Amino acid sequence: EKGGYDHFMLKEIYEQPQAIRDTFRGRMLVDQGLIKMAGIDDHIDKFLNARRILIVACGTSWHAGLVAEYIFEDLARIPVEVEYASEFRYRNPVIDKDDILIAISQSGETADTMAAIKMAKDKGAFVFGVCNVVGSSISREAHAGAYTHAGPEIGVASTKAFTTQITVLTLIALQLAKRKGKISTSDFHRYLQELDTIPDKVEKALNSNDHIEKIAAIYKDAPNCLYLGRGFNFPVALEGALKLKEISYIHAEGYPAAEMKHGPIALIDEQMPVVVIATRKGHYEKVVSNIQEIKSRSGKIIGIVTEGDVDVRDLADHVIEVPDTIEFMTPLLTTIPLQLLSYHIAVMLGKNVDQPRNLAKSVTVE
Ligand code: F6R
Repeated sequence: EKGGYDHFMLKEIYEQPQAIRDTFRGRMLVDQGLIKMAGIDDHIDKFLNARRILIVACGTSWHAGLVAEYIFEDLARIPVEVEYASEFRYRNPVIDKDDILIAISQSGETADTMAAIKMAKDKGAFVFGVCNVVGSSISREAHAGAYTHAGPEIGVASTKAFTTQITVLTLIALQLAKRKGKISTSDFHRYLQELDTIPDKVEKALNSNDHIEKIAAIYKDAPNCLYLGRGFNFPVALEGALKLKEISYIHAEGYPAAEMKHGPIALIDEQMPVVVIATRKGHYEKVVSNIQEIKSRSGKIIGIVTEGDVDVRDLADHVIEVPDTIEFMTPLLTTIPLQLLSYHIAVMLGKNVDQPRNLAKSVTVE
């Protein structure tokens, strides 16, 4: 059942190229330069006239929502707010009928996310679900939706659900950007062609597994770990930290790299591993200067870099390469090494990777 892998989590990490491909299938028609998504196309006027998009979710799905915020605003120029479902539902938010609420949930059963949907529906908003489990409560409660086609995710720590959520949300952002006339036809085609290469690039990123395992062996006994990223990769830093803490029980925090100097930099000493997402696209120089600040305080730097990078390699203690891609697609690649790093550390510490203590796969109570 684990298909030769030691754990479901590892199997599911390795399934990501196929899971992303399955999530495109029938929706992204690269040769014709088209995206077809019934859940969007059937309600296109609602989306084109939306005053804003509210995204609600919990945990890893909330991180996918944050990535989507950056992509939607950048490409489609629609204002987006992302909220924890548990906060949103209890804070008397301003919602009206020109708002679209996108609820993201792998299980489709998360109690807080469900409650947020019901509240938004009561206030007249249009609700769109992004779920993995077909026929789940959230998928039935939403007015419309698009499934991620990740297949069953058994490991409690979410992996392929995250990257396929980002895939679906990227397709939606591209479709809306095109329909709103915010991107040129040639850029739209170029983006589809690039997105089509992402599964192969994820495959390449997975090839760093042995190298990542060696890095894991060096840092497995660290009591703390910091994850930094900027822009599209800030939410990936949050996700990397969540993955490490939930399966290895090492305290980890994710931060936007520039926030370092507003507090967390005080934590840096020679005991502190700092994972920095420093792909060549997107504030690269600024991230390099953040890395210099860490280095001058003797922090241990693990850089997630673009293939062929030299600048970060000079500064960092270790680098892990991912293939080059268009900036807004980098989260689909930078996520991979962070999943593998957490996995190997947890295995080396003898933790129950697939069923971490205190956690449940679907959180049906608030
Ligand atoms: C993290 C994790 C949780 C879930 C969260 C939301 O690896 O598994 O943080 O992401 O409980 O679950 P869904 O997406 O099912 O609503």
